[in-house]
Amino acid sequence: MYVCICHGVTDRAIRTAAESGVRDVADLAMDTGLGTGCGTCTGLAQQLLDAESQRLTLPILEAA
Ligand code: FES
Repeated sequence: MYVCICHGVTDRAIRTAAESGVRDVADLAMDTGLGTGCGTCTGLAQQLLDAESQRLTLPILEAA
């Protein structure tokens, strides 16, 4: 689904960015332009980044 309509950024693109180490909307904005239009997408984008980074770190925590 499109998270940022202004710049055509999808949830998949945000998850892929999280896998590459992006952790906040400011970094997403530099890479994709997300949030630099109307700005209504930033909250959902950050939620997706947080959820994805949490999912990515869980296996490491389980191994500790
Ligand atoms: S929907 Fe992302 S800047 Fe407008």
